[in-house]
Amino acid sequence: MTVHEIRRKYLEFFENRGHSIVSSSSLLPENDPTTLFTGSGMQPMVPYLLGEKHPMGNRIADSQKCFRAEDIEEIGDNRHTTFFEMLGNWSLGDYFKKEQIHWMFEFLTEELRLDPQRIYITVFGGDEEFGLERDNESVNFWKEKFESAGITALDLDKAESEGMRDGRIFYYSAKKNWWSRAGVPSNMPEGEPGGPDAEMFWDFGADLKIHENSVYKDSVCHVNCDCGRFLEIGNNVFMMYKKSGKGFENLPNKNIDFGGGLERLTAVINDNPDVFQISVFSGALSRIEEISGKEYGKNPDYTHSYRVILDHLRAVTFLIADGAIPSNKDSGYFTRRLIRRAIRFGNKLGIDRDFCKEIGKAYLEEYKDAYPNTYEKRDLVMNELAQEETKFRKTLEVGLKMFEKTIGGLSKGDTLPAKESFDLYQTYGFPIEVIEDLANERGVVVNRDGFDDEMRKHQDVSRAGAEAKFKGGLADHSEETTKLHTATHLLHSALRAVLGEHVEQRGSNITSERLRFDFTHDSKMSDEEKEQVERLVNYAIEKNYPVTFDEMTVKEAKEKGAIGLFEDRYGARVKVYSVGDPDKLPFAGADSPTFSKEVCGGPHVESTGVIGKFKIKKEEASSSGIRRIKAVIL
Ligand code: ALA
Repeated sequence: MTVHEIRRKYLEFFENRGHSIVSSSSLLPENDPTTLFTGSGMQPMVPYLLGEKHPMGNRIADSQKCFRAEDIEEIGDNRHTTFFEMLGNWSLGDYFKKEQIHWMFEFLTEELRLDPQRIYITVFGGDEEFGLERDNESVNFWKEKFESAGITALDLDKAESEGMRDGRIFYYSAKKNWWSRAGVPSNMPEGEPGGPDAEMFWDFGADLKIHENSVYKDSVCHVNCDCGRFLEIGNNVFMMYKKSGKGFENLPNKNIDFGGGLERLTAVINDNPDVFQISVFSGALSRIEEISGKEYGKNPDYTHSYRVILDHLRAVTFLIADGAIPSNKDSGYFTRRLIRRAIRFGNKLGIDRDFCKEIGKAYLEEYKDAYPNTYEKRDLVMNELAQEETKFRKTLEVGLKMFEKTIGGLSKGDTLPAKESFDLYQTYGFPIEVIEDLANERGVVVNRDGFDDEMRKHQDVSRAGAEAKFKGGLADHSEETTKLHTATHLLHSALRAVLGEHVEQRGSNITSERLRFDFTHDSKMSDEEKEQVERLVNYAIEKNYPVTFDEMTVKEAKEKGAIGLFEDRYGARVKVYSVGDPDKLPFAGADSPTFSKEVCGGPHVESTGVIGKFKIKKEEASSSGIRRIKAVIL
């Protein structure tokens, strides 16, 4: 079965069970300052898990594009990819454990015809420190399901130390069976939603001797041991708590957040533990075979290089289409690193000519029907790939020579000084992962902390340096952030009033301290224009307009003059926030009854008076044809 067939089956299965299907959000999250990338299906769903009403109802399903930057260095094994699709279904205070477990079993064993004998389950074993209960309920539902297939499912503790022992359901601690964007309960900031989870695994079989041939061979093999024998195919999160102070309180609803890796599920259905042999990779893989003249799977060194190239170039195809253009900062910095690393691994396969664009093209064709918006950006994707490759190839060869020279004086086990690795980065554009790969091949250690320090000293990549991992500062719905969010709508309207209707939002990023707004406009704003915009926004604040929202179809929203991003990410119905009279057409001048009307998920303040005084701090170019404003409220 192909990836596209399985995606379709899953979505149809849940559509037939009362779910609204929504399309994938962008890989670059909007209004979420805490993370550069969408790394799970639930990220765009956070407001709804916290209790806001979803315009499409309380049963939602989708397949969400995800990118996990923290996995870059894991790529090369049989199952990790930086980009993947996460199948998701959500109950927003509707059904709960019983239905979810029933449907999961039905979907896996009847719809996909997977053998239940090879499915294993892990559940939350409880947490004393936070007074969180062991999930016996899920265990009982799973037991019933296995029983119905003639399997007696034994539930056991201590899999890490004692192994499988003919068990089928295993209890693990919060480290494995608790889910929140910030990880375990103690890491969660106040207000963050989370809950226990029950995960489903596929057994590729002891006969394959994956464990014995892995680095884990001297430890006990169990469901979560990472040797690759067991592959996680889905995670049912029972999203029912919110962190409050030192403990937890119940969310307004008991929610389901299911996430399943589409690529991994496909590998399971093919009963082939190599995720890179599923359908979506085959076009790109054949191209690489043609270009390199090396066959995939013949030589383990080549297999590793193949996987890096296959993974990275697929990820950047989607990243560029979603707006992460190769650059030295933020999300574009990751795009650059992935492309350059792919080129370097191409070198290892003996490819010494441009090839990224061709591989990107293979992916664009592969995903043409599933992601038409990505396909529409094909010219952009291919141009960026070609340009970036040209740029890097100019310095690659000299950089490699320089590296050889540097490393010549070092022996196995030595550390490459931070200054040297930073020079390789700065002068020859070698991404840190490439430097690490090169050093590792010679048994030399890279001083990564030292490199990061140098980097910080030289440029402001603090957000990129965080590698999109949470460091406590979560997307909050705090009062200050909410005020700045409403102020962003006012700014958007004021810019259109002052500069013209060609102004369109191209990005927005809000923390509790400032807003950042990117928009289309060709020239630098004059001081007078900036003052006019400030004056208009402050005027709207003084008027203390009510902020209200309505739900409507995209067509209605357009007829009512709403602005905003009209991709159909919320499906057919959208939320439209109005500042002022919701029934009038918007205009942002003085005496406007309706200052702003914009498609948006919220949250917003109730009336503009609470916002405070609005001040533009900076107006600058963001990229060609795009300006960026940073503003605060005083
Ligand atoms: N949100 C859960 C995950 O990403 C389903 O694993």
